[in-house]
Amino acid sequence: MTANPMLSGDHFRLGTFSSNCSSGMTPTKIAERWDNSWDNNLALAKMLDAAGIDFMLPIARWIGYGGETDFHGNVLETMTWAAGLLASTKNIAVFATIHTAANHPAVVAKQIATIDQIGHGRAGLNIVAGWNKPEYEALGLTLPDDHETRYGYAQEWFDLVRKLWASKEHFDWNGKYFKAKKIKGDPAPLRGSVPVLNAAGSPQGREFATDNADFLFTPAIDLARSVTEIADLKAQARAKGRKVGVLTFSHVICRPTRAEAEDFADLTAVKNADTDAIDNLVNLQFAHAHSFPHDLLAQIKHLFALGHGGFPLIGTPDDVAEGILKLHATGFAGTTLSFVDYVKEFPYFRDTVLPKLKEAGIR
Ligand SMILES: Cc1cc2nc3c(=O)[nH]c(=O)nc-3n(C[C@H](O)[C@H](O)[C@H](O)COP(=O)(O)O)c2cc1C
Repeated sequence: MTANPMLSGDHFRLGTFSSNCSSGMTPTKIAERWDNSWDNNLALAKMLDAAGIDFMLPIARWIGYGGETDFHGNVLETMTWAAGLLASTKNIAVFATIHTAANHPAVVAKQIATIDQIGHGRAGLNIVAGWNKPEYEALGLTLPDDHETRYGYAQEWFDLVRKLWASKEHFDWNGKYFKAKKIKGDPAPLRGSVPVLNAAGSPQGREFATDNADFLFTPAIDLARSVTEIADLKAQARAKGRKVGVLTFSHVICRPTRAEAEDFADLTAVKNADTDAIDNLVNLQFAHAHSFPHDLLAQIKHLFALGHGGFPLIGTPDDVAEGILKLHATGFAGTTLSFVDYVKEFPYFRDTVLPKLKEAGIR
């Protein structure tokens, strides 16, 4: 079995987010926007693996956000994506992102156990309890209006997954949402479970996350506010005898000069912003999710244009490293990174920013 970088060490975790989705995290019309082909994902995974990056996290999405580019209209399915990447890498952890309502728990329990063998213990699971109503309708599903039902369903879903991983015997399940007769889940993941992520913002979601996840995701919009939020989340988990790390997501434009970085930000996120897609994305966030604090949402539209609401790391290698060090000082356990073109831009980040983080002692 290989070490899973999400389980070992106390360094500041770095991963990538959304490379399986068209345009990655940037709803822009520029021709150089991210092409999420398998070959590009594979090339990226190999580079990240060789550079010691900890994890790759995909977005599970079933319909795009429209606009001229149909942002996220082309998405590689995350379980098969993770299987392929785990087979092609050596050290990096790779997550599958799973909508509880769209995937039967017995199937997912087995899929995760299978990809964990493929990666010799490097698989992870990001649980999504649902928020995107048009997407549910596209699948013929009904998104429950209330968060209690969404997370009640997700809890029973994950309880059944865990029971399948833990049980050596056949068992019956008579839950509110699932029934099973003489079921058995052999094999389990190599360590009995895998690192679990959850990204809820609502109070019910945060109960779910602190009950079940190893790492929670939350946006970093106002770092002063994040200090309290992180302390509260850790205290909430501690009160349940659990330990959680809090992660965030960032968007990187790293260039030799600040002017070059800002020009590229302006080109992608102002001059060529896919405004219809951004409006749809922000409106949907307002309508059904609490991932972003609603009082801040109106102010952060430009962050959605830049990197889907991620923390902006825009500037020289010094600026970008400083931004990451600020996230670390705030109490975050790590961040994902996105780039307009991950394969083209990651090497400069690797060569210029990673050494600074190492020097600063956080990697
Ligand atoms: C880092 C991160 C990753 C997420 N990944 C997905 C995803 O892949 N698919 C999805 O439908 N929702 C995703 N979400 C949405 C959350 O899982 C969650 O459903 C949303 O925040 C709404 O929950 P809430 O209303 O409890 O806040 C993600 C959110 C964040 C911040």
